Amino acid sequence: MSENISSAELLPDQALRFYLDAGVDETIGKEPVDRYALSQSAAKAQKSNRPPTSAPSQGKSHPSRPKPGVPAPPVAPAPSSPASQSATALAAAASSLPELRAAIEGFEGCSLKSTAKSTVFADGNADGRLMVIGEAPGGDEDRQGLPFVGVSGKLLDLMLESIGFTRESAYITNVVPWRPPGNRKPTPEEVALCVPFLERHIALVKPEVILMVGGLSAKTLLNRTEGITRLRGRWETVATPGLDVPIPAIATFHPAYLLRSPQQKRLVWRDLLAVKEKLDTSAPS
Ligand code: URA
Repeated sequence: MSENISSAELLPDQALRFYLDAGVDETIGKEPVDRYALSQSAAKAQKSNRPPTSAPSQGKSHPSRPKPGVPAPPVAPAPSSPASQSATALAAAASSLPELRAAIEGFEGCSLKSTAKSTVFADGNADGRLMVIGEAPGGDEDRQGLPFVGVSGKLLDLMLESIGFTRESAYITNVVPWRPPGNRKPTPEEVALCVPFLERHIALVKPEVILMVGGLSAKTLLNRTEGITRLRGRWETVATPGLDVPIPAIATFHPAYLLRSPQQKRLVWRDLLAVKEKLDTSAPS
C-alpha cells in the first residue's frame, strides 16, 4: 500500500485486507476504545487504591496519548492490584478442580477473557503422574475449549506417546487460560494475574512430574528470566502453596518451535527420556 493513502480512504475489501495483513484478526467491539486513556485511569486508581473509572470520552483529541516512541504504561494491573488480590483469594478458596475451573471462569479481572471465546482449563487425567504445562491457548484451543488441540497439539501428542503417555493419561494445561488476541504473547501483567490459578491448579493435581513446555511456562514456574534454550533439559523443582513437597519439573522446547526448527527434536527427545526415567525410577504414589 502507498504510504500516502490512509486506511479510511481504502475500499471496504482493501481495508479488510489491510487489517488482515496488519495482524488484526478479531472484531471485539463496534466503537474504538482509547486504551491509552484507560491505562492512565487504571494507574491513577491504583495510586488511590480505587478501582479504575470507566473510559473518559472518546473525543478526537488525545491529551493522554504518549509521544511516539514512548511506551504506553501497561493496561493490565500490577500484581498488588485489586484484580490480583481477587485472583489470589479465588484460587485459594478453590478446594477441588471443578471449583477452580468455576473460579477461573468467573474471574473478570484479566482483559484477555473478554476477547477469548473460551476459558481453556485443562484436558486429560487429573490423577495422572505427569502434568504438562504450556503457554496459552491458540485459535483452535479457543474454539474447542481444550488445550493443545491444534497443529502443535498434534505434535505434543506424538511427543507424549514417545514416552508411553497419551493425552488421556497425562494432564495438560496452560499458564494462561485465555487466548491472547492474534496469538500474541501474554504480557507479564496478564501472566501475573493467572499465576495464583496455575499454582492452585498444580497443588490440586499434585502430579509426580511437571513438563514445562516453552519459555513462558518455564520462566513463569521457575521464576527465572533466562530463555528456554538455557532452562530446558535440567531438573528443577516447583514449589507452590498447598504442596507438602516440591514437584520435580523439567522444561523443553514448545512443539510450535519444533515445527519451525525440527532439528531441535533431538534435544526434546532427551528431555522426554529424562521424564520417563524419573517416573520409571520412582514408584507411582
Ligand atoms: N500452545 C500452547 O502453549 N498451549 C496450547 O494450548 C496451544 C498452543
